[in-house]
Amino acid sequence: MPAHVHRQPLIYCPPGEHLPAAFAQDLQAVCPFDLTPERPLLGPYFIWREEKLQLYTDHAKRQGLTELSFDFAEYWRELQRQRGRSSHGPLAQALGIKGKPSWRVFDATCGSGKDSFLIGSFGAKVVAAEENPWIFTLLRDALRRLPVLPFPWELCFGRAEMLLKARQDIDSIYFDPMYPSAKKKALPRKEMQYFRDLLPADHCPQTTLTELLNCQAQRVVIKRPLNAPPLLPNVKHAYKGKTARYDMYMSHETR
Ligand SMILES: C[S@@+](CC[C@H](N)C(=O)[O-])C[C@H]1O[C@@H](n2cnc3c(N)ncnc32)[C@H](O)[C@@H]1O
Repeated sequence: MPAHVHRQPLIYCPPGEHLPAAFAQDLQAVCPFDLTPERPLLGPYFIWREEKLQLYTDHAKRQGLTELSFDFAEYWRELQRQRGRSSHGPLAQALGIKGKPSWRVFDATCGSGKDSFLIGSFGAKVVAAEENPWIFTLLRDALRRLPVLPFPWELCFGRAEMLLKARQDIDSIYFDPMYPSAKKKALPRKEMQYFRDLLPADHCPQTTLTELLNCQAQRVVIKRPLNAPPLLPNVKHAYKGKTARYDMYMSHETR
């Protein structure tokens, strides 16, 4: 975590507003947070507003961004609008989902949950891991606001490699590490700008990929920039999309 970011998320709940008690209790048990009735002088913090948690960071404010929340119902509506396009696409193929209704995918880097929902829309069961307490809090809040889960989705707090040690039921692992900061002009999408404020700059995706390859699963798929070199040798097959490449490794071939 960068030095200015507290390990424990801070929720600013203005006087007269109330965090739902059951949600606060559930969250506190998994991912502890602090609550304050006064607006903090510096970010990051959450604001409880319009019946949801909204993430504020100083950097995002300077960039002119509005506070961040996730909206799973909107993700699903968007995926329904695109139906038929992506379920035969490179990610579904790389994960090996096609024609296997009980395929279980472990999303090792849940982030905004968008890729989890995309994978769920292919017909897979998804288990998602998020290790960052701030991002996990946003995910839990979005899950609370979703009336019905449109596919089997389990959200876990913690480091993927550790969580996977307790699982024998995973078919494919999906790994989407942060891309290195680009020198190019286009700004990354809003979530990624927030993630850059909250995540350490010095992570080593090779190490994580090596650990994931040692977990119990048939395949590991890593998302890469289209023209970047593979992170490790022995890619079984590279599936190219329009904006990203999915390198697929067969776990038993790399052990
Ligand atoms: C690039 S983002 C993933 C974006 C995601 N695929 C999406 O659809 O928004 C990487 C996320 O994975 C999390 N992460 C990175 N390494 C992790 C690990 N080993 N275990 C669990 N979460 C991890 C980070 O905290 C961050 O939220």
